[in-house]
Amino acid sequence: MESEEIRKKFLEFFEKKGHVVVPSSSLLSDDPSVLLTTAGMQQFKKYFTGELNAVTDFGSSRVTSIQKCFRTSDIEEVGDNTHLTFLEMMGNFSFGPLGSDNPRDSGVNGYFKRSAIHFAFEFLIDVLGISMDKFSVTVFEGDGEVPFDRESYDIWHKEIGINEARIRKCGRKDNFWGPTGNEGPCGPTTELYVDGIEVWNLVFNEYFCNKDKTLTKLKNQGIDTGMGFERLTAVLQGVSTIYETDIFKDSIKTIGEHAPNLSTRIKRIFADHLRSISFLVVDGVRPSNKEAGYVLRRLIRRILAYKIQYDIHGEFFLAVIEVVSRKLSDYYANLKNTKAITDILTEEKMRFEAAIRKGLKALEEKTSLDGREAFYLYETFGLPFDVIKELAPRSMANDIHYKDFELEMKKHQEVSRKGQEKKFGGHGLVLDTGELKARDEDELQRVLRLHTATHLLQQALRDVLGDSVRQAGSDITAERTRFDLHFNRKMREDEIKKVEDIVNKKIEEDLPVSYREMSRRDAERTGALHFFKQKYPDHVKVYFVGHSLDNAYSKEFCGGPHVDHTGSIKKIKIIKEEAVAAGIRRIRVALVE
Ligand code: ALA
Repeated sequence: MESEEIRKKFLEFFEKKGHVVVPSSSLLSDDPSVLLTTAGMQQFKKYFTGELNAVTDFGSSRVTSIQKCFRTSDIEEVGDNTHLTFLEMMGNFSFGPLGSDNPRDSGVNGYFKRSAIHFAFEFLIDVLGISMDKFSVTVFEGDGEVPFDRESYDIWHKEIGINEARIRKCGRKDNFWGPTGNEGPCGPTTELYVDGIEVWNLVFNEYFCNKDKTLTKLKNQGIDTGMGFERLTAVLQGVSTIYETDIFKDSIKTIGEHAPNLSTRIKRIFADHLRSISFLVVDGVRPSNKEAGYVLRRLIRRILAYKIQYDIHGEFFLAVIEVVSRKLSDYYANLKNTKAITDILTEEKMRFEAAIRKGLKALEEKTSLDGREAFYLYETFGLPFDVIKELAPRSMANDIHYKDFELEMKKHQEVSRKGQEKKFGGHGLVLDTGELKARDEDELQRVLRLHTATHLLQQALRDVLGDSVRQAGSDITAERTRFDLHFNRKMREDEIKKVEDIVNKKIEEDLPVSYREMSRRDAERTGALHFFKQKYPDHVKVYFVGHSLDNAYSKEFCGGPHVDHTGSIKKIKIIKEEAVAAGIRRIRVALVE
């Protein structure tokens, strides 16, 4: 089924059920608590809270939309099978007050769980023809604050006839959604799966989450659903990645024609970024050093840097933008303005190139260059490390080592940490080691806490799952740690809980955190954890948690920095455990304040 048909069928289906079709709102959200629109419900927040009245504004308590969404948290993950920065989300919404909640009632009254579940099921199974034996669901299992969602469970099992083996009960981290930003509507969810892939999230908005994280019951119970358009299309077209759907096929092909030797991952990054850049620009975002503008600048500079790094000479940006425009401008008319997009891209390219040229000139004037000086070229001209190494004369390139670059950067950060943040003009990072990034002092503290917690996590995982557990990668921001490990099955709830408890116990013990520098050989002999494939310098730091290196709880090769004592981490929580690739699980950990 072509993606266009899916789009049409979705809106028609909900129109027949009394919903008014509302166009997507801009990516530049008017919700001050978020940078860019991340969910379909965002433009409707005030209808859920009762500040606005849907019947007055739309003529119905029911609306449906296909919303442009942008997820900045996924930038680094783009290139795998499922992640995108820009995506479209199909949704149906009900704002109350409740009518009969009878799914046969296709009037304009509000509805709740019964109708929402019946509608979703009917659409997937009857309209799209998805086979029942591929279908399963999850419901909220309940916790101390919000009860088990028995109603949804019974609707799935008794009314719709889903076998109990195909109804999974899950906790907060999987089956509770919202709010977007720091406050707003939220509630328990039921998720619909096809072949084990989550396609649709039905949120029962019963609560308002306040800034202090307390929940207040909403006067009107509402429905907010979201189904990723690209993902559903992949399922219906029987392909294993969104990039093979008709939505992306032509972009990928165009990129392949101009740069045939690129890896699949890099092609996908170009396809994703050029599409999201297009949408951001036509919605009015301009490259800058802050907020949404910074997101756009980062995307543009990422693809420009890749172009340099992979030595791509073909000019395919315009061609891909034209493809995106042809594919989607029937739905988003402003995408016709491809000139606006290419103008911005050209301008930003010139700025980036000017920086690079100045940097190159400085580079040319040098008679010698090492990693330390490379850092200053980066600092002054924005030249990424890889690019400097690439462009430096061969005679010098060999002397440019990342570890010197990194060392200089850390020194620099140390200085700025001691109260010179303003020097960065508010747009630089105060810490960026590749793994760790922080924009200001506040973020820095959170990142350090999460970094030490990550070391504890790795050891705790080994305690619970066995010593064969190895780290596959990690990424830490002020919001969370993302930790990938080689392990070939889903972790059980009790295992997750155990790991979490061990880490929190080590935090409570308030153990000191320190490091020793030593030769790589000696470091290996201490039994400290490290990546087997990675090349380490001759001298490394071993960070350890405990009163001495010999009987430390955790030991790892690591550049730091960390907190001084585990107690300052306070408490952590594992918020998600999922598969990212064959044999690799991803765990997300957040701080509990
Ligand atoms: N607002 C919900 C989501 O984005 C439906 O998943």
